[in-house]
Amino acid sequence: MTIKPKVVLTGFMASGKSAVGRALAVRLGRRFIDSDHEIAARAGKPIAQIFAEDGEAAFRRLEREVIAALAAAPEPAVIATGGGALVDDANYAALARVGIVVCLTARPEVIARRVSASNVVRPKLAEGNLPLEQRIVQLMEQRKTAYARAAIVVDTSDLTINAAAERVLRALEGRE
Ligand code: S3P
Repeated sequence: MTIKPKVVLTGFMASGKSAVGRALAVRLGRRFIDSDHEIAARAGKPIAQIFAEDGEAAFRRLEREVIAALAAAPEPAVIATGGGALVDDANYAALARVGIVVCLTARPEVIARRVSASNVVRPKLAEGNLPLEQRIVQLMEQRKTAYARAAIVVDTSDLTINAAAERVLRALEGRE
């Protein structure tokens, strides 16, 4: 199998990037890297705390540094990125050069259900004080052109983590 060295997962919050990425990494025998995890490690605090104490601009600066470092690292990997990371053109270009970009999607009501069931704090969804699903629809609309650049798109709304990983794997193999 000659899949490009990096498989990069993008897509809206709670679309399944980390869980599916981990399952995909096992199947491909590659290392799994979560860019948000790297950012939190660099900052020495969780993402929500970076947003609260230093602001979104500081978070995005760290995010750009982490993405550039991941793009420069030679080893094959499956990389899950934060939902806003590849909305940035420079981040997108850096990772698309070394890898294949896969976008995971899910219907707004499914995203809302997953977000509500999760204990991850997502500051971008609290902006504007809108009802959760309305805010999800709004932000998805703003980002849809950025996400549409991905080479592969998989809707995870009705799939288990393993089924979604299999779907991505088949799509990757189909592109050889
Ligand atoms: C963000 C998504 C989050 C995290 C940060 C900002 C976004 O990651 O990077 O809260 O702007 O969409 P997940 O997509 O893993 O929730």
